[in-house]
This record gives sequence, C-alpha cells and structure tokens, in this order.
Amino acid sequence: MANVTRHIGLSLGADICWPICYEALLKKLDLSISVDGNTQRFEVERMGIEPFDLRQPVKYDVVIDRLTHWYHTSREWIKKAILTDDLYVFNNPWSLQSMEKHTTYCAMMRLGFPIPETWMVPPKNYIESPDLQPTLRNYAKLFNLAEIGDRIGYPLFMKPYDGGAWVGVTAIHDRESLHAAYNQSGTRVMHLQEAVDPHDMFVRCVGLGPQWRFVNYDPAAPLHDRYQMDSDFLSDYDEATLSKMTMVINAFFGWDFNSCEALRSNSVWRPIDFANGCPDSQVTSLHYHFPWLIKANLRWSIFCAATDRSMHANLNWGQYFKIAAKDISFDEKLEAYAKIAFDYFDYDRFSEFCERHLAHLDEVALEFFGSDVVKDAIRQKVEALYPPHEIEEFTELFWTRIQTWREQQDAA
Ligand SMILES: Nc1ncnc2c1ncn2[C@@H]1O[C@H](COP(=O)(O)OP(=O)(O)OP(=O)(O)O)[C@@H](O)[C@H]1O
Ligand SMILES: [Mg+2]
Repeated sequence: MANVTRHIGLSLGADICWPICYEALLKKLDLSISVDGNTQRFEVERMGIEPFDLRQPVKYDVVIDRLTHWYHTSREWIKKAILTDDLYVFNNPWSLQSMEKHTTYCAMMRLGFPIPETWMVPPKNYIESPDLQPTLRNYAKLFNLAEIGDRIGYPLFMKPYDGGAWVGVTAIHDRESLHAAYNQSGTRVMHLQEAVDPHDMFVRCVGLGPQWRFVNYDPAAPLHDRYQMDSDFLSDYDEATLSKMTMVINAFFGWDFNSCEALRSNSVWRPIDFANGCPDSQVTSLHYHFPWLIKANLRWSIFCAATDRSMHANLNWGQYFKIAAKDISFDEKLEAYAKIAFDYFDYDRFSEFCERHLAHLDEVALEFFGSDVVKDAIRQKVEALYPPHEIEEFTELFWTRIQTWREQQDAA
C-alpha cells in the first residue's frame, strides 16, 4: 500500500475569502483516504503565473480555476496541462471560451427547454477593418427593428449575446425605447429577448459537480441582498425540475461549476441566463450560502483528485439530441437528459465516496464557520470592496448571516 499525495491547485484572481476558507477547512479535515489500495493525502496550493515550457510536467491532479474566462496565460497553461498530463480542471477552458449565452440558448432550445423567444441583431456600429465596407455594402440588409420588437412583444430585454455582470442589459417597453437602446448599443452584438413577464419567482440554482443549491434571487436588491436566505421555498416538483435543468446544462457543456437563472411564469420554469463560467463565489454576495459553496467545492475537488477523474475534454452532444428528437413530453425528455447528466457527474460513486470518506465534513465545517479564520476572511473581502466607514457594519452583517446558517444546521 503506497502513500500518495494529491495536489489541488487554486488558479486565482481577485478572490480573497473563499480560498482562505477552502484551504483552512481542508487542513482541518486532515484527510487520509484509502482509495484503490493507496492512502491518499491532499495538498492545496495557490498557483503562480510564470513562463512555461509546453512539455514541462504538471504537478497538480485538480485545478479550481477562476481566471480562464479572461486571463489568457492561465487559460493556455490549463489547456496544455489537460492535453499533456490529464489535468482535471473546473471549468473546461475550451467550453468557457466558446459557449456564451447565445450558444447555450440555441442548444437548450434544441433540447426543448422553454427558453424565451430570442432574436439576434447585427450591431449598430462597427470597428473599421479593410473588408468591412464591401461586406456591409453587398450583404448587410436593411432591417426594421420596430417590426422585430413587435413580433417579440413588449416588454422585452436587449442584452449582449455574450454578456455577463448585467453590462448592457436594458428592459424595453416600447418601440421608442427599443430604438434608443439600439442606438446606444455601439459595436456589441445584441439579443432581443421576450421578457418572462409576469413571473412569480426567480431562482438562481448553483451547480457544483453533482451538487446544487437553490437560491431565491432578487435582482432588484443591492448586491449584498440579492441572494435571499430562504430555504424550502420550492415544491418538490420545482426542485426536481430546476436541479435536473441545472445538471443537464452543466453536463452538456462540461461545466463543473455554473449557475442557472430561471424565472417561473404560469408554473413553467424558463431559464434566461445559464452560461456563468465563473460564478460569484464571494462571501459578500453569497453570505448565508457561502458555507454550502465551500463544502461543495471541497467535496467535488477531493473526489476528482482522489478518483483521478477524467476530464471529458470532448463533449458528446448527439446522445442528448437523440432524446430531443423523440415524440415525448418535455418532462420525460428532461428525465432522460438528467440520467445522462447524473452519469456524467458520477453521481452514485460521488455520493458513496462522500459517505465513506467525508462524513465528518458537516460537523467540522459547522464548527469552522464559527471561527476567527472565517470572520477574518469576511473582513478581508469587505475591506477590499467597501468604503472604510462601512467595513465594520458589513463584516458583522455577513458574519451574522453565516451564524444564522450555523444555528439552523445545529437545530436540524
Ligand atoms: N428574458 C428576461 N425576462 C425577464 N427578466 C430578464 C430577462 N432577461 C434578463 N432579465 C433581467 O435582467 C437581469 C440581467 O440579465 P442577465 O442575467 O441575462 O444578464 P447578465 O449580464 O448575465 O447578468 P448577471 O451576470 O447579473 O447574471 C436578470 O437578472 C433579470 O432580472
Ligand atoms: Mg443573470
């Protein structure tokens, strides 16, 4: 029986709070896991940014990445490490690069998801390039924006086809505001999307490996209040639908960590935003839900490292499309897609692994989230984001919400 050290790398940007908690909790867990006859221990390390030889060996078994979506050197190192050394990383860098909102809408439309009616329009302005004028002169057709707006109906949303962080999103109520928003959209390529209106619920379902968490989401609230603190606010049917949708989306695109936003209208869940390759992980937005994220992250990364999980760098979409083509209801299709997705995420093996090797995680975490390490991590994040006179107040606010979570766990 050999002793093996599994190396987990953190590829970080402006992250402060979650890596501190991830590292400290992993240390407290003091794991020594017997898998396939080997005793495994786990080490976590923050990765630096430096020149690299494309053939140099890779030390890590798993990397949790927060940079790929914008920092190219790290993205390219990760791609190299997957190809040369079978690194497991979340998230798949190729899928992040190529699968923006638009791709995800099209794919999930084909699977029959009730995505709101969506159009793409060419941009209002262009950056000059040598071929631009002849291309537009010959092929760009004049179009009637108002007609498209009328066909979709009002209200509608104009938003970048590859957007994030609410940049360039406008609610449009009539022809006039449609023209005004388009005139202001500059060189961005925009979607016009039917508003899910009215809706009686807005849920952000966060998926991490085969784990998920439902968050009652209030987009109109200030950032620290958007993630509401409700639990058990969904019916069994709603929970089943949203968890399956999230797992299917994530498995389809090869995303280990993603959040899926869906609005409920007339009892139907309509996903509107589910390409979040680098979901918010900060205590300043997640607060009450932050312990869930840290625990889910630990479970999934430890499982992937311990079992040498394969990266699935190539996706297999045909199996979903075969189901999509069947003459059965959407609920039946979703059930069939979900089977593939749960399989993809090794749900049964993962559950068994957690029961056998990580059964003490909940108890250790419960104590840990009442410790000074956590309070200090919150303070550091708050200091980075808030003006000096608000630091005390917001550190206390997020800390108190985490303590509320602890009390509820204790009572459960
Ligand atoms: N089709 C829609 N129906 C109703 N509301 C919508 C729709 N599309 C967008 N919105 C509203 O606009 C907000 C921002 O849109 P969306 O989530 O698509 O953009 P984003 O840039 O990805 O934002 P974020 O990064 O905050 O999630 C949503 O949270 C929602 O409140
Ligand atoms: Mg959104």
